[in-house]
Formats: sequence, structure tokens, C-alpha cells
Amino acid sequence: MTTEQILRNPGRKATETVSTPGQSPLDFHRKLPGYAQTPLVEAPGIAADLGVARVVVKLETDRFGLPAFKMLGASWSVYRSLVARLGTEPDWDSLDDLKAALAPLGNLALAAATDGNHGRAVARMAKLLGYKSHIFVPDDMVEARIDAIKSEGAEVTVVAGSYDDAVALSALAATDDCLVISDTSWPGYVDPPTWVMEGYSTIFAEVDDVIDGEVDVVLLPTGVGAFAGSAVTHYRDHNDDVSLISVEPSDAACVLESCKSGRMVEVPAPHRSCMVGLNCGNASLIAWPILRDGLDWCIAIDDHRAEDSMRRLAKEGIVAGETGSAAVAGAFGALDLGVAAEIGLDPDAVVLVIVTEGATDPANYERVVGNKP
Ligand SMILES: Cc1ncc(COP(=O)(O)O)c(C=O)c1O
Repeated sequence: MTTEQILRNPGRKATETVSTPGQSPLDFHRKLPGYAQTPLVEAPGIAADLGVARVVVKLETDRFGLPAFKMLGASWSVYRSLVARLGTEPDWDSLDDLKAALAPLGNLALAAATDGNHGRAVARMAKLLGYKSHIFVPDDMVEARIDAIKSEGAEVTVVAGSYDDAVALSALAATDDCLVISDTSWPGYVDPPTWVMEGYSTIFAEVDDVIDGEVDVVLLPTGVGAFAGSAVTHYRDHNDDVSLISVEPSDAACVLESCKSGRMVEVPAPHRSCMVGLNCGNASLIAWPILRDGLDWCIAIDDHRAEDSMRRLAKEGIVAGETGSAAVAGAFGALDLGVAAEIGLDPDAVVLVIVTEGATDPANYERVVGNKP
């Protein structure tokens, strides 16, 4: 039996500039087919229920035609990995130019482990470049998500075990002809996941582009912590006051437990949350120091809050899946557990939530919300 928790991060430091990407992932993403800035919408009903001035929702439910934000990290990481192999940054404007520039590398394959979205995004990137892909998934993944990965042309291996077991197996796929593009890192494997984290910065650059004023609170669905690490890197670069909060499932709260202990702590499987993208037992090695120094609060919540938030978002006209609703769920968790004001949810607050995923399990969406996505 696990319990909900809220932790004020004891390791939080007044951060100076954390490293920011040298070259803009946003410029890169703009050159990919299907790029469009995702919407930033108001959720007045949720704002009223939380007792804050505004809730602004960054909608990552359709990014490059995929139902989650993950293509931002996967595409940038694949690109940087290929440039590193090439030894020089090619000059290109279209995908065809890029493919021609990469031709000397020959016919490669891409591999990744996934809870769903990252693997599908790596497979999509392989398809765009004309490469094969091999994606490793945990054995509790629902058929709809496996089919979605296969629809990108990937070979899918179902690993007997958890997401962390799938990560371990995917690492063995690396050969001269196969690049492993993981969104998490481990000793000796840092560059591709660093680039994944950099790639997510496009989300925050787009928010800055259109939002009027500063945000006061940002709630971040957190699995291995690469997404939250990207947010910390972005905001701490210019705003030490914004309250940055990770949100994890109660039985996979590896970032919260690590912050509590001041060192990386594994939270062993089983991880049974319906917020499947957040079912991770280990934080990413490269994300961890960024989160340790830069997060303000860590929240661990139960699944009923994700379901409640799916319904709340539906009332605002937003179709969000279980994982995608986690940021809103974290805010209501903080409210119910009595720390709303402390984390910055006050009547003047502008709260940014990122809905990181659409309804990737349509049958469950219909069960929870009462209508089809
Ligand atoms: C939809 C969604 N949101 C959030 C996350 C969390 O990202 P990270 O694992 O980088 O913490 C994931 C990870 O797979 C995800 O799929």
C-alpha cells in the first residue's frame, strides 16, 4: 500500500544559470514535416476550483500528428546522434536535404525502450529517415499502445518485466548499425538522453512566445524526470521565483524519494499506475542533479486523481489521457492535502499545466469520462 505524499525539496538551491542548449531545438523542429506550435488554452473552470487567477494548459495531445510531446525529444536526439556520427553539422532545409546529407552513414536502425510515447516517436523518426526501428516495451502495455508503435513500422519486443527491465534490454541493442535513443540515462550513456531533454525545451520556448506575463507555478508529469529536467533548465535560467513541481504516481515516485534522500533512490516495481508514462522506478542520471537543485516541490498522487482530472479537462473541452492529466491531478492533490498556498496556488497565481498526452487508451478514456475521446 502506497500513500500520497508532498515534499518540499530539501535540496533546492538558488540556482544560477543551468546549461541551456547551444543550438535551438525549436529551429530544428520547425524544419521537420508537420511542425506546428501546439495550443495554449485557458481552463477557467479548473482555475476557479483551484482558487487561482488562471490555469493555462499547454496541449501536447497532437504533436507532429502523434498524441504526446515525445517527438520533440526523440527527433532532436536522433538528429544530434546522427550529426555526432557524421562528424559535422549538415546544411539542410528539408527532410530530403537531411536524408541526402546523412546518406554516408548508410542504412541504420534506431532502438529504444518505452512506456509508449517515446518509443513511438523514435519509430516515427526512423520512418521519416528511412531507417528500421526496434522498440522494447514492458509486458503490461495495453494492445492499443503496442499497435500504435507497430503502426510506425517498428519491430516491437515485449520484455518480461517493467519499463526499467525494457530499458536494460534496449541498451544491449546498440551496435555499429543500431543507435539506442533512450530518454533516460545510466553510467556511460549520457549524450542521447541529454539531447532528448534539450528537445523538450521547444514546449517552454513556445509557451514564452505566446503567454502574456510570467507563470507562477508549473506542474510537471514526471517519470524518469527528463521532461521536468527540461522545464527546470528553461525556467531557472531566468526565473528563480517560479514554483516548479514534479508530479508522480504514488508507487513510482522515484524523483520524490530521491529528493527526500538527497541521492538517487530506486523505487522497485511493480508500478501499477494508470499514468503509465510515469511508471518509472529510477530517475535519469543526467536529470537527477538538475531536479535535485531546481525543483521546489514533489507530489506523489493516486490514480483516482488522474481519472478525476480527465473528467475536469473534458469539461473544459480538452481530451487528455491518464498520464496527460497528471499535472492537473497534482494541483488538486496539493489542494486536498492542504498545501495549496505553500506551493503557490493562491488567488493571484498563473498556473501552467502541460497536458503531455491525449487519450492513448480510448477504451479506458470512455470508461472514465463517459464518452469516446
Ligand atoms: C505522456 C507523458 N508525460 C510525461 C512523461 C514523463 O517524462 P519523463 O519520463 O521524462 O519524466 C512521459 C514519459 O514517458 C509521458 O509519456
